Amino acid sequence: MSKNLQAIRGMNDIRPNESPVWRYLEAQVSGLLDTYGYSQVRLPIVEFTELFKRSIGEVTDIVEKEMYTFADRNGDLLTLRPEGTAGCVRAMLEHGLTGGGQVQKVWYNGPMFRHERPQKGRYRQFHQMGVEVFNLAGPDIDAELIILTWRLWGKLGLRDAVTLELNTLGTSEARARYRDALVAYLEVRRDQLDEDSQRRLTTNPLRILDSKNADTQALLVDAPKLDAYLDEESKAHFAGLQARLQAAGVPYVINSKLVRGLDYYGKTVFEWVTDKLGAQGTVCAGGRYDGLVEQLGGKTTPAVGFAMGVERLVLLLETLEAVPAELSRSVDVYLAAFGEPAELAALALAERLRDTLPSLRVVVNAGAGSFKSQLKKADKSGAELALILGDDELAQEQVGVKPLRDDSAQQTMSWNDLPSFLANRFGL
Ligand code: HAM
Repeated sequence: MSKNLQAIRGMNDIRPNESPVWRYLEAQVSGLLDTYGYSQVRLPIVEFTELFKRSIGEVTDIVEKEMYTFADRNGDLLTLRPEGTAGCVRAMLEHGLTGGGQVQKVWYNGPMFRHERPQKGRYRQFHQMGVEVFNLAGPDIDAELIILTWRLWGKLGLRDAVTLELNTLGTSEARARYRDALVAYLEVRRDQLDEDSQRRLTTNPLRILDSKNADTQALLVDAPKLDAYLDEESKAHFAGLQARLQAAGVPYVINSKLVRGLDYYGKTVFEWVTDKLGAQGTVCAGGRYDGLVEQLGGKTTPAVGFAMGVERLVLLLETLEAVPAELSRSVDVYLAAFGEPAELAALALAERLRDTLPSLRVVVNAGAGSFKSQLKKADKSGAELALILGDDELAQEQVGVKPLRDDSAQQTMSWNDLPSFLANRFGL
């Protein structure tokens, strides 16, 4: 195929055989969120570039290097959203949904765009299912978000494969004091830092903690620790969160180097990580961002949330073979008909079955064909049963019922008996 007719690197098609597991995952997540009282919001994919600069942070990797930004025909600078929190906060403000201390618990699902180097689990168009809560300041809601993800891992059979890493970044005052101490310590050792970290020393020093460079990490061993700079409020919040996770039986580890790549966080940050996917092991991540609403022009509004990477969770389900087997079958019965009179009767019969058994998955053969070819198509469709309608069956108002997945014998039954037989057979 000529090059300009290929999909863009890092942007994937979800093929028909792949979509059942996506739909399964999305249904599990949305069903769970319904039971916890969260409502869905649907937000635009494109926003003014300014929104992301002012929320994610000018000197983050996302804003500096990864955004898909373009001028539209009016000359407005627009960006394909690299994440969902900024747009969600914008929507809350625009519609006055968080005014007067109104609590909002919302979730969203959709594509996000970052110009990263594509590899397994890292794409340029990827999908997040995210959750955001506004106007609840306590650790109880941070705990709820984590507890509900823990329940989700249980439903999906992923609990043994994921670990919760937890940290607190403290209040903005605590963080500012810590930042000064860290910079003072590293400034005199500047020449021992890797290039990226040298740059971050003036732009975003806390991100140095996250450096992959071994020499930088060695240098950090004796550096000041954020713990020592936490104020009472941050400590109480973090202790409250941990007490609740313990009460709910959610295991966690504290990772004091966890700082996250977006600037809006304070107090709680967390990541669910797995060692089953190679380098891109974070499947869900989030934290508290009490300052963001105000930063974008609203009143002080505590907020907390997280987002899951759908591609990574799909990969994890597949890697662990945790995809339910029934997802691979999408057809229950395949109706084969021979000759025009039988074809007409088959259509009417299929509609009758759909009336009485609305959840039965029925495929009617299209494109005629010999007995052999229709049975081959029936087999390929994945159906459990082929229903066979020829001139003889038609004359008797009967169908042949041929099991396709086991050796049990073919039988013949009347059209009238068929619905209750199928209801029984498929547990409908
Ligand atoms: P994030 O850590 O940038 O946070 O992304 C959340 C998750 O999205 C990651 O843990 C990962 O699973 C997935 N993800 C990120 N980038 C890629 C990529 N290039 N390819 C595949 N998956 C990816 C946020 O976006 C925050 N908005 C989360 C949040 C919501 N915090 C508070 N509320």
